Amino acid sequence: MTTRKPELYRNLAEQLGALIAGEPDRIANTANMAALIYHGLPDLNWAGFYFRQDGELVLGPFQGKPACVRIPLGKGFCGAAAGRAATVLVPDVHDFPGHIACDPMSRSELVVPLIEAGAVSGVLDLDSPLFARFDEIDQAGCEQLVALFVDHHRHHSG
Ligand code: SME
Repeated sequence: MTTRKPELYRNLAEQLGALIAGEPDRIANTANMAALIYHGLPDLNWAGFYFRQDGELVLGPFQGKPACVRIPLGKGFCGAAAGRAATVLVPDVHDFPGHIACDPMSRSELVVPLIEAGAVSGVLDLDSPLFARFDEIDQAGCEQLVALFVDHHRHHSG
């Protein structure tokens, strides 16, 4: 798996580019992106977005079980990633009391902030039922997917 991961992410980036090409709608694009990631990466139980609205994050398009709708900035891993404008990689969510457990099955988590025009506009959140499911290759791969999305929407309003 490890040796094939970079190839998997190159593949996902290519597919994401094709899915969002020419489409300015953010809901449509994040919905397809969540579906692409959820079905393209093994061992996930949740993949989706939260968007920033004033002082909190509000649930956006996702795949997986219904999730917490509003997360205050700074709370949980999503709020931490948004508050710090930096990726948060958590091998074991049980080690952190601040974790917001939407699904008790989630064991590890990767949260990548969306930074647009110098400000955090939301986060991409991936959850897995496996311990330490995400590594630095996943982090780099997901950051690249988010960069592709952000760059696309810099040129397409919506
Ligand atoms: N566990 C996240 C909350 C979002 S759900 O996992 C979908 C957190 O601690 O921010």
